[in-house]
Amino acid sequence: MCTVLVTGGAGFIGSAVVDLLLSNGHKVVVVDNLSNGNMDNVNKASTYYNMDITDLKLSKIFEIERPQYVIHAAAQINVEKSIQDPISDANINIMGSINILECCRRSGVQKIIYSSTAAVYGNPLYLGIDEMHELNPISFYGISKYITERYIKLFNALYGLKYTILRYSNVYGIRQGISGEGGVIPCFIMHMLKGEEPTIYGNGDQTRDFIYVDDVARANILALEKGDNEIFNIGTGIEVSINDLLKSLSSIIGDCIPLYKKEKKGDIRYCYFDIRKSSGILGWEPEYMLKEGLENTIQWYSKLLA
Ligand SMILES: NC(=O)c1ccc[n+]([C@@H]2O[C@H](COP(=O)([O-])OP(=O)(O)OC[C@H]3O[C@@H](n4cnc5c(N)ncnc54)[C@H](O)[C@@H]3O)[C@@H](O)[C@H]2O)c1
Repeated sequence: MCTVLVTGGAGFIGSAVVDLLLSNGHKVVVVDNLSNGNMDNVNKASTYYNMDITDLKLSKIFEIERPQYVIHAAAQINVEKSIQDPISDANINIMGSINILECCRRSGVQKIIYSSTAAVYGNPLYLGIDEMHELNPISFYGISKYITERYIKLFNALYGLKYTILRYSNVYGIRQGISGEGGVIPCFIMHMLKGEEPTIYGNGDQTRDFIYVDDVARANILALEKGDNEIFNIGTGIEVSINDLLKSLSSIIGDCIPLYKKEKKGDIRYCYFDIRKSSGILGWEPEYMLKEGLENTIQWYSKLLA
């Protein structure tokens, strides 16, 4: 058993990671300021601190709790918001991450596992995107996540702090808000459950790689022991168009007619990952097929609406 500090543990992905860590017998400390998270998501068996990751008092928590591992999932996750307010995005995602890295260094944390994103790649030059793909983010969010990767690598080179960087594709599942990168799924589900028409921007043939949140949580747990100082893509390797996603949802919820609107500026057209490195080194493979993941998610949102 070890002590793992999870930032963003009241959020969508962080809370799934916390649940899995606890069920594997670890002691878990959660740091989250609830700016986008929710106390209902925080597992009662964890020790919770309401604190901003940019707060210099964070070092006190590290002194008290002495975590061996840090899973850093807290972030400003909204791409559009990052474009409207790049200062706030950089403050949370870059300065907040440096604060965490400094706490790790001072308190002798062994390893940090960082939630990064497909947004660091920008417009794909080829598909499936592998970890060697050029990094050319097209949003400030993508830049702030990329810069943090660079800080993590330099903390490793200068101070020996081990790391694993996990770049997620579009994550979906229970407890997801609608503002993040995988936000299209909760958005469609909410509309369809309420009998409203979902909106598709563009003609719907744009593709994404949708990965279920429990698979992402499992990748984080594997990274505690494997994949030191490596970067991994965490996705399914399967390309799903928005039209096909809607068909899958309709087959569970019932038919609906979508509203088509003009394509959003800056939207990437086609995207899916090459996940051979994660499978080879981490020994990680996605376990959830889209249909099963969607069924779980729909069930959860149905209860929420009821
Ligand atoms: N959801 C996706 O599809 C996706 C894809 C790629 C990468 N990611 C990354 O995964 C991580 C988790 O994302 P998520 O979708 O669970 O988002 P989320 O918003 O549900 O979770 C983030 C959590 O961080 C907390 N937080 C935000 N700013 C904070 C601050 N300044 N101090 C303390 N806590 C703060 C929020 O309250 C929230 O609980 C993020 O780092 C995100 O960049 C998510």
